[in-house]
Formats: sequence, structure tokens, C-alpha cells
Amino acid sequence: MSTQSPLGAASPKCRVVVLISGSGTNLQAFLDAAATSDCDYTVEAVISNKADAYGLTRAQNAGVPTDVLSHRDFPDRDSFDQAMVKRIDAHQPDLVILAGFMRILTPDFVRHYSGRMLNIHPSLLPKYQGLHTHQRALDAGDSEHGATVHFVTEELDGGPPVLQAAVPVEADDTEATLSQRVQVLEHKMYPLAASWFAQGRLKMAGDRAELDGELLPRSGKRLD
Ligand code: GAR
Repeated sequence: MSTQSPLGAASPKCRVVVLISGSGTNLQAFLDAAATSDCDYTVEAVISNKADAYGLTRAQNAGVPTDVLSHRDFPDRDSFDQAMVKRIDAHQPDLVILAGFMRILTPDFVRHYSGRMLNIHPSLLPKYQGLHTHQRALDAGDSEHGATVHFVTEELDGGPPVLQAAVPVEADDTEATLSQRVQVLEHKMYPLAASWFAQGRLKMAGDRAELDGELLPRSGKRLD
């Protein structure tokens, strides 16, 4: 998966498959990073559970193969997730990136990609697992808010954190202004965490993430 062999010959880059449900601004950050020559990963495919997700257009514009698998075409969560695994694995990914993929995942799906699936969540986990994170931070009067990249485990938004970044909450913030500022951070931190993984520096070690052989803090590394 490293980009350079001991003899200096190029070896295959880390193969990434990105799952989306919507706008795909995080996907765009991955596509932009992957377009640079020194990037350690390639985006092999983008798969959406929604046919009208704008992220599909972003992928097509970048020349990346897309696939749509609607959960509405399946009788239950298990059968949808099993079909997703087949579609994803057709691209032989080293890393699966959840980028606004708004589905609760079955334990079998999560176990299949254990230690090789990352998610970004718009809060400073363990605060505000689930939905409406920006509004909840505002309602609580928090002085800071942010996002967390974490490995995905069976606990929703509960896997080992890798990277966290925060912005101050301003007195006049609304859900829209706050989420916009957090997204600017997301677009930096998520491709960075993926590049650590692609370089073989980032691993899941039980309930913690490990970077360069050292366990990271339980809330992840803080991005300044
Ligand atoms: C991102 O802000 C991400 O943090 C959030 O969805 C947004 C997707 O935006 N993810 C979750 O809420 C997961 N629980 P994007 O489609 O523009 O990347």
C-alpha cells in the first residue's frame, strides 16, 4: 500500500472507495487530494444510496466510476448491506470512506471492514452522537464545536477517534454558519487522516487509534 518500494519502484497506491448520500463536499476534498501527484491513495469508486446525490456528479467530473444502490430496493437492512459489500468489494478497496453516508450500518457490514473504514462526524465526539449536532452544540451554549474522524465500529459514532478539530462558537452563529465553518475543517482533516492510513501509519488498535506506533488520545489527535 506504500507508494515506494525499498528499491524505489512505485508500488500500488491505497485504493479508496467513498460512500455518500448527498452533496459530497468531503468527497470533493478527497477527489482534489487524489488528483495531486504526491497523494498516497486513489479514489476507485463512489457509491451512493441516493440517485440524486450531487456527489455523483462530482465523481463523474473527476472521471471516477460511480454506482447507485438504493436502500429502497431491498426488503431490509441486512440485504441492502450485503449487496453494498459486493459492490464495494468489486473495487478491492484498502480503505472505505464514509462521507456523509447517512445509513445505520449492520454489525456484519461493520465487521467486514473492521480497521479499514473511516467516518467523519460533525461534533467533538463523544459529544453529540447522532443527528442535528450543530444545533445541539448551539442549544447547549458550547464555546467550541467541531468534527471528528474515527474508525467505524458497531457503536454508532462510537469507534476509536483519529483526529479532531474545533472552531469557536460565535455569539451570532446559526446552524448554517456553524456547520459551514466546521465543514472547512472537515475538508482538511479527513483527507489527512486517510493519507496517514494510506502511508501505513494509522491503525485501529482495539478501542484506540494508533498513529506511528503510538496510541492516540481517546478523543483522537487534535488538529491545530
Ligand atoms: C458532513 O458534514 C459530515 O460531517 C456529516 O455529513 C456531512 C456530509 O456533507 N456526517 C454525518 O452527519 C454522519 N453522522 P458532504 O456530503 O458535503 O460531505
